[in-house]
Amino acid sequence: MPIDPKDLDLLAEAVRRLRDGFARLPAAARSYDGERARDALLAAADRMHDNFPYHHPLYVGQMLKPPHPVAKLAYAMAMELNPNNHALDGGRASSYMEKEAVAQIARMVGWEEHLGHLCGGGTFANFEALWVARELAPGKAIAASSQAHYTHSRLSSVLGVPFVPIPADASGRMDLDALQRELARGEIGTVVATLGTTAAGRVDPLPEIVKLARAVGARVHVDAAYGGYFTLASNLEPATRAAYDAMRDADSIVIDPHKHGLQPYGCGCVLFKDPSVGRFYRHDSPYTYFSSSELHLGEITLECSRAGASAVALWTTLRMLPLVRDGEFARGLEAGREAALALYAALRDDERVAPLFVPELDIVVWVVRARSATEASARAREVFDAAARHDLHLALASFPRAMAAHTISDWDADDVMCLRACVMKPEHREWMPEIVKRLKASL
Ligand SMILES: Cc1ncc(COP(=O)(O)O)c(C=O)c1O
Repeated sequence: MPIDPKDLDLLAEAVRRLRDGFARLPAAARSYDGERARDALLAAADRMHDNFPYHHPLYVGQMLKPPHPVAKLAYAMAMELNPNNHALDGGRASSYMEKEAVAQIARMVGWEEHLGHLCGGGTFANFEALWVARELAPGKAIAASSQAHYTHSRLSSVLGVPFVPIPADASGRMDLDALQRELARGEIGTVVATLGTTAAGRVDPLPEIVKLARAVGARVHVDAAYGGYFTLASNLEPATRAAYDAMRDADSIVIDPHKHGLQPYGCGCVLFKDPSVGRFYRHDSPYTYFSSSELHLGEITLECSRAGASAVALWTTLRMLPLVRDGEFARGLEAGREAALALYAALRDDERVAPLFVPELDIVVWVVRARSATEASARAREVFDAAARHDLHLALASFPRAMAAHTISDWDADDVMCLRACVMKPEHREWMPEIVKRLKASL
């Protein structure tokens, strides 16, 4: 969703409205050299040509969803003040807006009570969740599926916590028998379930994971950085729906507004079910917590300075597009899954390719058929390049044999490179015939 000139009129109006609130102050305009600024800005625009067209529906590569125009405008408007949500004296209004926005996300997963905040992104949000997990179960391991985001094993190592990978089954979801065997050893303190894996958009069977973890007293953390908002969608398969409905039973959850929540980058969110975990964050700041005895967000975050503008952008977007089932925002997610199902159907009916799974969310992955795994991987790279020449931008992702066994007869390698499409823009549903046409022309 590009900025268009009428958006700029709206931005000017909002900035004037914001300035009205400070009109009593003597004028203090800051001037700059307009010509040099223009040169620099146009040079930056030229440099930005060296990008894939992330904003366009023909870009279906990585998990990139353009922010909503209202989020961009709110962010730009907030830049007038550039608040810092570390402490209330750095960003009072924007801190309250953050608390309200985060409470809406918590309510979306069924939590009336919670502790949570925004942060730089999914990595940092998961970091905080795993750090709290470590504090609650010192010496115990963190387990996640082999299809979980790489950040979990990496963060475990940063935290000095043992990491136990649990294999994914043929459907790309956590293998429950393997999890049960590992839990029985008594060394796992926290199980990470992924609701929407990064590579293939698979949803771990959360109700069963919660049951197995609780039986041995382990915690459950849900990494729904990419997939969390899909809880609002009404067109999920029953097993996927059940996983989302079980989110309320988790101990902590990560959902990134900067993935599916239409926000600019720099906006992750971590939520804890038990607000008393705030005790682990306890510290003093001799510089900043003087302005009020009310909670400063810095008291419950590991980061210090954080962009208040992110909170303003999120709050504004939620005011326009509340997190409700059957609302406009939910319809956008449903459109993405419909687009994914349409792409899946087109691939299934073409003997040159083989999709790995019926998409659960809005990611589709497929093998380019060939005699062997090595040849299929090479063909995937060729199709990736050919599609780009048709201005269709896909991604590549490698999958283990167990997840792609049915697509290849000669397994001369442990993995196969697949093509991957993230059809996460609502307009992908209408663009699918054009996307399929260009893809077929690239095979
Ligand atoms: C499931 C999941 N978790 C964590 C992350 C990391 O998030 P970020 O890139 O915002 O740090 C990603 C990124 O794609 C993800 O898909």
